[in-house]
Amino acid sequence: MKNKIESLKEDIKNFEISDEKELEAFRLEFLSRNGRVQKMFGMMGEVPNNEKAEVGKAMNEAKNLAQKKFDDKKEELNSEAEVSFAATDDISLPVEPSYTGSYHPLTQALNEIKQIFLRLGFNIADGPELEDDFHNFTALNFPPDHPARDMQDTFFVRKSDDPKKEDHVLRTHTSPVQIRLMKEQKPPVRSIMPGRVFRNEAVTAKSYFQFNQVEGLYVNERVTLGELIETLVMFAKLMYGSDVKYRVRPSFFPFTEPSLEMDVWWQSDKGGQWLEILGAGMVDPNVFKAVDIDPEKYTGFAFGMGVDRIAMLRYGIDDIRVLYDNDIRFLEQFNS
Ligand code: PHE
Repeated sequence: MKNKIESLKEDIKNFEISDEKELEAFRLEFLSRNGRVQKMFGMMGEVPNNEKAEVGKAMNEAKNLAQKKFDDKKEELNSEAEVSFAATDDISLPVEPSYTGSYHPLTQALNEIKQIFLRLGFNIADGPELEDDFHNFTALNFPPDHPARDMQDTFFVRKSDDPKKEDHVLRTHTSPVQIRLMKEQKPPVRSIMPGRVFRNEAVTAKSYFQFNQVEGLYVNERVTLGELIETLVMFAKLMYGSDVKYRVRPSFFPFTEPSLEMDVWWQSDKGGQWLEILGAGMVDPNVFKAVDIDPEKYTGFAFGMGVDRIAMLRYGIDDIRVLYDNDIRFLEQFNS
């Protein structure tokens, strides 16, 4: 037995430990529950009584030897790790900045618009981008072959070869969502409807074949033009600051009567100019009839604004196309 203990001690002394892996191998071989030191204690039963004290002492020595070697090596390896860390990495150097992504400027502008109207008591609704003629035109009081349909250059989409089946359109504005909403929900209705719209226009710095609008609709008993203008002025002040210079002019849309447009004064280095930010008006009684709402009982107002225009003003972007290129060098600048 004494020989066994001696050779165990020799093995403990000779075990090479130069890294974490070998340290763990040492622990498993000698110090773990199934390790050689425990096994040795397990053999105590075979030792004659008169030798037990002496053998026990030798066993304890072997155990302490293993434990001490383990502890010392562990500390040594840890301090080496610290030294090598300090030699290669200067932790006082600034870290390399990493680009974490950001909201697209259109999303940022849209979020601001949503926040303003949520504060004013509107909720948010949406509708499909592929529309039928009824929702995009007819229900909005565009008579068939009426020249007003030419106001909006339309993308037609043929869904079937059957000539009796009607063509669909990529919605030219978000106003068709008004129709869907009023068919689904009885007044009062107070919603904004953000979405992408499409027009068959030449692509230039100022126009694109797609852009984003936010439609608004409020229908209730005795809604007035005064409330519409008040709401729009409130919006302009919250969006552009309380000192914003604005004007409201008469206009025409088939689905509102009377109709108006709102401009804000935009001051730039090159001078100032009026910029149209939205169209609006009182819901035309014919629109109410198309969705089975009694125009004698209810009135309402609607408005539609361009999100792209707002984002371009806000961020000084003079070419609408960059909003859709998704060039990372452009997008990185909106890391807010
Ligand atoms: N749909 C109109 C447009 O796209 C804007 C509008 C919406 C005007 C609602 C009046 C009322 O130009």
